[in-house]
Amino acid sequence: MNMASYDVIVIGAGPGGYVCAIRCAQLGLKTAVVEGRYTLGGTCLNVGCIPSKALLHSTHLLHEAEHNFAHMGLKGKSPSVDWSQMKSYKEEVIGQNTGGIEFLFKKNKIDWIKGWASLSEAGKVKVGDDTHEAKNIVIASGSVPSSLPGVEVDNDKGIVVDSTGALDLPKIPKKMVVIGAGVIGLELGSVYARLGSDVTVVEYMDAVCPGMDKDVQRSFKRILEKQGLNFIMGAAVQEVETSKTKAKVKYQPKKGGDDEVIDADVVLVATGRKPYAEGLGLDALGVKMTERGQIATDAHWATNVKGVYAIGDVIEGPMLAHKAEDEGMAVAEVIAGKHAHVNYGVIPGVVYTTPEVATVGQTEDALKAEGRKIKTGKFMFMGNARAKAVHQAEGGFVKLIADKETDRILGAAIIGPGAGDLIHEICVAMEFGASAEDLALTCHAHPTYSEAVREAALACGDGPIHS
Ligand code: NAI
Repeated sequence: MNMASYDVIVIGAGPGGYVCAIRCAQLGLKTAVVEGRYTLGGTCLNVGCIPSKALLHSTHLLHEAEHNFAHMGLKGKSPSVDWSQMKSYKEEVIGQNTGGIEFLFKKNKIDWIKGWASLSEAGKVKVGDDTHEAKNIVIASGSVPSSLPGVEVDNDKGIVVDSTGALDLPKIPKKMVVIGAGVIGLELGSVYARLGSDVTVVEYMDAVCPGMDKDVQRSFKRILEKQGLNFIMGAAVQEVETSKTKAKVKYQPKKGGDDEVIDADVVLVATGRKPYAEGLGLDALGVKMTERGQIATDAHWATNVKGVYAIGDVIEGPMLAHKAEDEGMAVAEVIAGKHAHVNYGVIPGVVYTTPEVATVGQTEDALKAEGRKIKTGKFMFMGNARAKAVHQAEGGFVKLIADKETDRILGAAIIGPGAGDLIHEICVAMEFGASAEDLALTCHAHPTYSEAVREAALACGDGPIHS
C-alpha cells in the first residue's frame, strides 16, 4: 500500500536519528522516523549509555558507603544490594528518557512509523506492507556488538553476554571475566566489581583504553586495580567454552607460551561494535560501502545515491552518541538548504567510571608522531582543594597539550572528579582557537574542580600555583 509522502524519512531513532528528525521538523520539513524497537532512543537510551549510567550511579553510592562513609563520619550498616530493585530503577530511568523522545516527536509533529525499514528504490521506504515516499532519506541505523571468533554470545542464557545482556543479568555473578579493556568493559566491569563480583579483564593490548593518552592509561589502570578489578594484559582470547552454568575462557599470552584458561560464572564480551545496516537493501540500491562495512558518505553525509544520507555509528568516525547527534543536526541543515559543519577535531570522549576519564583533540603521542612541536601542562587533583574535600583527589590529573610556538590548545586528557563535564571548557576553548594562556587568564571559581583545568593551563606557561 502507498502511504504518506515526506520531505525526510529518518531510519533509526537513536541519538543520531531522533535528533536529526527534530531538527528537520524545526526547519519546517515534513518528517517521519522508522523505528522497529518497542521504544525510541536506540541503543544509547535503551541498552547503552543511559542504563549503564543508572547502574554506575547506584553502585558508586554503594562503593562510597562501603569504603568512604566511615572516614567522613557516617557510621552504621552499609546498604545491602537489592539487585532486582536496582534494575527496576534502571528501567525507570530508561522509561523517562525514551518517553521524553516520544513527547518531543509529538511536539514537533514527527510521525513514528513502527517497524523495520528497507529501501526498495531511492525515494521509497518500505515498512511491512506499506511503502512511504520521501524526498530525502537519512540512514541512522547505528551499530551492534561485534562478534569474536570462537565466542558465542547468548544473552538469554546469561553466561556469555554482550553489553545488552550485562545490563540485565538475572543475578550478580561471583566471578566475571570481561573480554576487552575498552569503554564498555571498564564501565560495566566497574559496576559488577562494586557489586562484589570478582572481575578479571582480559585485554589484548598492553594498556587499557587503546589510543588514549598514555599517562591516563597508566593511572586509570592503577586506580581500577585499587578498586578491585584484576587485569590480564597482552592476552588474546581464543575461545569460550560453556557448560550449563559456567564458562571457561581460553586466552593466548602475546609474549608466547601455552594457552591459559580462566573460569567464570559470566563472561562479558566487550571487544567493540560494528556498523549495522542489515535488511535495508543497500546492496540492491547500489549504496557504496567502505571496506570496514560502513556506509560511505561525502563531507555532507550524502551517500552515492541521490537523496540518501547516512549518519552516526553506521558511517566512519568514533561510535559516540554525541558525534551522531551533531551529524544528525548538520545533515538536517544540509537537507534544508543551509550550511552545516561538524568539527571532528573537537569531539570529546568520556568514560563514566569513578573517577571519570575524558579526552578531546589529539594525544601527546599522536602529535609527536606527526612531528609537531608541543608543550604540555599537567596538574594533579591532589593540589585541588575541592577534590580533596570530596575524597576524590588520588591519582587524577588534568593534562593540557598546546602548540609550543602559538600556545594554541591542541588536546586534553582528564582523569578525576567531574572529568566528563570539565572537558567541555576545553572543547569550547578549542572551538574558539584559544591559547592555553586564554584559559589561564580566565577567573575560575574557588573551590571547584575546574580550577585544575586552569592550573594545567598555567602549567603550560609560567607554572601552576598549587603544586
Ligand atoms: P573498544 O573498541 O573501546 O574496546 C575493545 C577492546 O577489546 C580493545 O581494547 C581491544 O584490544 C580488545 N580486544 C579485542 N579482541 C580481543 C581479544 N580477542 N582478546 C582480548 N581483548 C580483545 O570497544 P567497546 O568497549 O566494546 O565499545 C564499543 C564502542 O562503543 C566504542 O566505539 C566505544 O567508544 C562506544 N562506547 C562508548 C561509551 C562512552 O562514550 N562512554 C560507552 C560504551 C560504548
